[in-house]
Amino acid sequence: MSNAKLILDGKEYELPVVVGTEGEVGIDITQLRAQTKAITLDSGFANTGSCKSSITFINGEEGILRYRGYPIEQIAENCSFLEVAYLIIYGELPNKEQLEKFENDIKHHSLINERLIKMFDGYPDDAHPMAVLSGMIGALATYYPDSEEDMDLNIIRLLAKAPTIAAFSYKRSVGQPFVYPRNDLDYCENFLNMMFAVPSEPYEIPKVFAEALNLLLILHADHEQNCSTSTVRMVGSSLANIYSSISAGVCALWGPLHGGANQQVLAMLQRIQDDGGDYEKYINMAKDKNSGFRLMGFGHRVYKNYDPRARILKTVAAKVLEAAGKDDPLLDIAKKLEEIALNDEYFVQRKLYPNVDFYSGILYRAMGIPLNMFTVMFALGRLPGWIAQFKEMREDPKFRIYRPRQIYVGPAQRDVVPIDQR
Ligand code: SDX
Repeated sequence: MSNAKLILDGKEYELPVVVGTEGEVGIDITQLRAQTKAITLDSGFANTGSCKSSITFINGEEGILRYRGYPIEQIAENCSFLEVAYLIIYGELPNKEQLEKFENDIKHHSLINERLIKMFDGYPDDAHPMAVLSGMIGALATYYPDSEEDMDLNIIRLLAKAPTIAAFSYKRSVGQPFVYPRNDLDYCENFLNMMFAVPSEPYEIPKVFAEALNLLLILHADHEQNCSTSTVRMVGSSLANIYSSISAGVCALWGPLHGGANQQVLAMLQRIQDDGGDYEKYINMAKDKNSGFRLMGFGHRVYKNYDPRARILKTVAAKVLEAAGKDDPLLDIAKKLEEIALNDEYFVQRKLYPNVDFYSGILYRAMGIPLNMFTVMFALGRLPGWIAQFKEMREDPKFRIYRPRQIYVGPAQRDVVPIDQR
């Protein structure tokens, strides 16, 4: 594709064009300021690419999501979460012995230092587990400061210890003793066991929930340059260590416009149920800018079609509830809301569809995971993506610290007036 031409102040400039694997076109403005003294301005970076990446491809118009070229539907059908984590981080699906070693290494790093566990006592009982997760992952940097030396070992440590930290934060919040990791269980079974086993009686891990958790983690595993992933890249670009960078990503994910939406969706569905299931009232509120209310779990910066992850979760939610012998009226409310919204001009015109957060909470709730842990579950799923994107950035031969520019619109130069004359 030929260069782009820019005419600025009567002068013409040529800008190179980059074309991606799937034909996406990027105008390379690396030399724009040097050539023109001008910069670009793009609120929310909706039109700005921060990097070239080989990890995840999304076609928002067609609702396509692929990890390293594999369609999410096939991955969801055929893989375990650790298989997907390996694929996303290292670029290829592991063979049997690679996967076995990866799983084993993770099992043998799932404990956290007993002195680090004392940090849980410092949090109030009602501490939000996302604050705990971010704090504890950041604290891992005090035990493993030289995160540059052994990237692979720190990748194992993060994947191994994050579920332990998450489950321990839940146990602390309900005043129950910690249940330590067990190496005879797989990744998802082990997490459910750490969450729900109690010393007083044996805990039978529901297979249907372990399978649902495996799917949920896979569907959240990466999503190209979303807010939290860009945060991990931003922090990591200063050569801050991987634990600090991931800790920052946890904080960004916590926001209700991002990963925090799954918790908001359930709160919204509960509010609608408590309000007598008056869907129209809430659809109208979502359309009224002055209401301050949004249909949480709807809309997406990239997807202008149905989020393929939401499509998968909608089908699975019904199956899991049935298999678990549970019925959740909130699922019916969610489906009804979706049906009304997808036929309403306001949503249709803005191409607002359910996103990954719209149905995920129904599944977490079915498993008995408390509302304030939903975004922690998102973080556990997104961890391989954050790691992979951090690693890709660091291995980029053209790696540079992220430092955007700005257009200054403040006061022109002026002189300080001494305080007794102000
Ligand atoms: C995730 O980036 C990722 O990939 C994120 C994620 C991932 O895997 O990492 O996919 C995970 O974060 C999913 C999104 C979860 N957030 C929510 O469900 C919160 C509700 N949705 C929105 O707030 C919103 O849709 C965003 C934040 C998701 C996207 O925001 P944008 O792209 O900045 O869009 P916008 O706010 O500019 O909205 C465009 C229009 C506006 O109306 P107009 O000004 O054009 O009249 O659509 C309206 C908005 O008011 N709109 C909504 C709406 N979302 C957008 N109106 C009502 N309800 C909504 N949910």
